[in-house]
Amino acid sequence: MKRLSMYALLLLALVPGARAQQAVPLYMQTDAPLEERVEDALKRLSLEEKVALCHAQSKFTTAGVARLGIPELMMSDGPHGVRAEIEWNSWNYAGWTNDSITAFPALTALAATWNPDTAARYGRAIGEEARYREKDVLLGPGVNIYRTPLNGRNFEYMGEDPYLAGELAVPYIREVQKNGVAACVKHFALNNQEKWRGTVDVVVSERALREIYLPAFRKAVVEGGAWSIMGAYNRYLGQHCCHNSVLLNDILRGEWGFDGCVITDWGGAHDTREAALNGLDIEMGTYTNGLTSESALGYDSYYLATPYLEMLRKGEVPMQTVDDKARNILRLIFRTSMNPARPWGSLCTEEHYATAKAIGDESIVLLKNNGILPLQPDKYKRILVVGDNATRRLTDGGGSSELKPKDTVSPLQALEKIYGDKIIYTRGYACGRPLYERVEEVPAATMDSLRNEAVALARTADVVIYIGGLNKNAYQDCESTDRKSYNLPFGQDELIEALVQVNPNIVIMNISGNAYAMPWVDRVPAILHASYLGSMGGLSIADVISGRVNPSGKLPYSIPVRLSDCAAHASGDPKNYPGIERGEKSETAIPGSLVDGGADPQVTYAEDILVGYRWHDTKKIPALFSFGHGLSYTEFEYGTPTVSSARMNAGGDIHLSIPVTNSGKCDGMEVVQLYIQDDKCSVPRPVKELKHFRKVFVKAGESVNVEFTITEDDLKFYDETSHDWIAEEGTFKAHIGSSSTDIRHTVRFKYLK
Ligand code: GLC
Repeated sequence: MKRLSMYALLLLALVPGARAQQAVPLYMQTDAPLEERVEDALKRLSLEEKVALCHAQSKFTTAGVARLGIPELMMSDGPHGVRAEIEWNSWNYAGWTNDSITAFPALTALAATWNPDTAARYGRAIGEEARYREKDVLLGPGVNIYRTPLNGRNFEYMGEDPYLAGELAVPYIREVQKNGVAACVKHFALNNQEKWRGTVDVVVSERALREIYLPAFRKAVVEGGAWSIMGAYNRYLGQHCCHNSVLLNDILRGEWGFDGCVITDWGGAHDTREAALNGLDIEMGTYTNGLTSESALGYDSYYLATPYLEMLRKGEVPMQTVDDKARNILRLIFRTSMNPARPWGSLCTEEHYATAKAIGDESIVLLKNNGILPLQPDKYKRILVVGDNATRRLTDGGGSSELKPKDTVSPLQALEKIYGDKIIYTRGYACGRPLYERVEEVPAATMDSLRNEAVALARTADVVIYIGGLNKNAYQDCESTDRKSYNLPFGQDELIEALVQVNPNIVIMNISGNAYAMPWVDRVPAILHASYLGSMGGLSIADVISGRVNPSGKLPYSIPVRLSDCAAHASGDPKNYPGIERGEKSETAIPGSLVDGGADPQVTYAEDILVGYRWHDTKKIPALFSFGHGLSYTEFEYGTPTVSSARMNAGGDIHLSIPVTNSGKCDGMEVVQLYIQDDKCSVPRPVKELKHFRKVFVKAGESVNVEFTITEDDLKFYDETSHDWIAEEGTFKAHIGSSSTDIRHTVRFKYLK
């Protein structure tokens, strides 16, 4: 009813002259300047109404002001699709029958496309679905940097490089918001592990914070224009990120000029005074663990509810704080639920399915191929498909990003559509059911019989397609738990070795949101690597295996040979991952109110700026497969680059052009990457850093010219003395390549101030 009255008033405001008769209040006049509407609404609010705006009234909504026709804010997960409706006041699903949606590929898959146009298409489609589901805030994208392959939530993020993550987050955000739905970029900041996520205090240098962990968030705000941002659960400088003075007041608002809303992660608020003073606007999910736990306490007990109201009344915190919060929230409301110009959205359309498929197609990474791929349908008579991920619906589980898709196609179904009855399937391995704090053990006898059956069938198959990897179970790719091992789970390494023994014609098609060990890498002829691909994932996988789609994905994160080759694990010191506990486990008054509390844990990012390929390059520890690596069914030759000058002056730039030729037999897409190396610097720098990339489609036998403009900003590092970005004079190199280690050309130039 509230919305009806609001729409009636808004429509009235559009009728010429109507205002004369019915003085439509300014805040209702949709053609009035946004800030004037905000100020007009603010002055009409009572103190109680302002405070009510600042905290949840249910699991995923905040109150509006019914008296003024200002509707509540409806929020929903998540980054890969609109989550099924959750009950008003519990974590249970509401059991609606009209909330099935399109499950889009995970954001790690989007990152693997290296295609900003695809990211825009993604944002448009998911924004339309969120709008249709009448959500005002979509809780995504996640842009936390991939620091360790054990992080349970890496699949929701966009890899190890801040430039790649930022370049793909911006178009996604802009397109979501064109639907009048706010993106909510998360989790700000330094949420790079799930272990002790609720309280771990992250120790990291200012330089690493600025060069690695903040840039994607900064781009999302400054270039993407994000209307909201979600505070992370963890702490930085000892203070919870959801009300962290440095992150929210100094950097987000002070430096970046953020005019949107800061929303806590669910259960991320812990203190009224800090929440009042340190830039938080909306408190959600307090006294819960963001996934399951409840508390008997009602919403009035939230930190920004009655306790805040009382502090305001007593003058213990300035009234200015609640006016600032109310302004940000009203601005969010006028941009979303009170924006009558916003489109109506759509759900599960052919266009959305085509978008999901296109993202999946472009995201699959061909890691290795001796020529066995693509599997030509008429070449084989018996094709054995082995693996639980050939049939498992990987949109279930994984935490808050889980989805209820209307349609899905499994890899096995899609392969059967192409290869028909040549396909034989066997599961090969079983996965224990997640039982909250642990995972059910599968009896050894069961595992043995599944493996023996697969091996027996492999003996007589012409070719084997293995479809395994990780899944969304606890301690796999799953929120609130990190992985316990770098190896594939459920006895898969042994299974793959056993299969190879009896049939060397095997294609490994693993699905995962993380890197994992590949002890069998030298014994298999081909390896494909995909993230979770959603509704149309099976079709993408089958089309790449059969050659209908030429793979063009590139790794958004390194795949180390072993865990100790990874920066976060190199020291073997738990201080660097997952951190150490320093005190007694402090149970708060409300059971379950700590999100995986730990006893005052602290983790130190000792590798500093050397994350991912920056570590592998600088420490000369080759990854098994490098950041930016991905093969094609065709070949690309890089011609000699031309540059506009061998010298860049202060404030100047250099234009670089390089011809790329498709010298193979089929059309394809290539991601041309440009890394900058500073030959000599007053501070240590990584060997090279990604500063530009371009994905190009090139028809067989044709060439395209790829253009780059290298700017002074591309040469800069963050100087902790001046707290600013600076470039030092000297010689630099521009490395152009097909991956971070497949450099095809290097151009040298001088930078002189
Ligand atoms: C969860 C997640 C966050 C999600 C929120 C609501 O704990 O950390 O990403 O959006 O709570 O489900």
